[in-house]
Amino acid sequence: MRISTLMGTSILLAFGAAAAHADETPAADPAVTAHAERLAIGTCGTCHGVRGVSQQPKYPRLAAQNPGYLAAQLRAFRGQQRGDPDAIGYMWGMSASLEDPTIDALAAYYAAQPAGTPLRSGDAAAVARGRDIYEKGVEASGVPACSACHGPDAHGIADFPRLAGQHAQYVMKQLASFQNNMRNVAVMHGVATGLKTEEMGAVAAFIETLP
Ligand code: HEC
Ligand code: HEC
Repeated sequence: MRISTLMGTSILLAFGAAAAHADETPAADPAVTAHAERLAIGTCGTCHGVRGVSQQPKYPRLAAQNPGYLAAQLRAFRGQQRGDPDAIGYMWGMSASLEDPTIDALAAYYAAQPAGTPLRSGDAAAVARGRDIYEKGVEASGVPACSACHGPDAHGIADFPRLAGQHAQYVMKQLASFQNNMRNVAVMHGVATGLKTEEMGAVAAFIETLP
């Protein structure tokens, strides 16, 4: 009930935001949109899936992700600020020559794709433990509830990213990268500092099961 009300609200907010956007900024250049779609399908799709629903755990799912978050990440790769070995090895090169309008059009493309079918690679005990961490945090070690920023349904809030349905292996690796500052983001470093490896695995296993 609570979740469905919130989802209704976020749909309304999304419509409101789209309408406000249309008033303030000129419509996206159709040539840029077409270029971004060709790139997404022909190039990025090799790893992320043509519609952003990657089936391989190393490559994050991008479908239904918040566009502001996607665009910020592409700029961070291009600016060589998001650095762990996989970001450096795969995404620095892929983003190096992307221009801002193309980045925004790529973000819009993925944000508009339907989310993929949720996965389940963890066992039931890990998933249950992960739900507890997601909803309540780990009080003893000062880990806050993930839901506070990523939303009760893990669909993200504003530019805080969607996590629902993301590959557990990818989520776990990001948490480790935030913890050791290879992916250097103060807010998630603070969140991840108190997480034990097994707790990261549990919360990642839970996130993966969410629609
Ligand atoms: C050869 C494989 C490969 C290709 C091609 C590729 N990517 Fe990636 N991408 C990755 C990997 C691996 C990561 C995860 C990096 C990490 O672990 O930090 C990633 C991460 C991302 C992220 C961050 C997602 C998140 O949840 O934070 C975005 C956005 C992204 N890629 C967009 C793109 C776009 C747009 C293209 C095409 C222009 C593209 N990628 C092409 C492998 C690829
Ligand atoms: C205070 C707000 C806040 C809380 C609480 C929080 N996060 Fe985050 N999280 C963020 C922000 C902001 C980002 C985007 C970081 C960036 O810009 O690269 C993020 C990014 C992430 C990412 C990377 C997503 C991707 O696609 O690469 C993961 C995974 C993540 N958070 C997991 C968690 C988990 C698990 C918890 C609970 C243990 C949690 N977060 C709690 C704010 C928060």
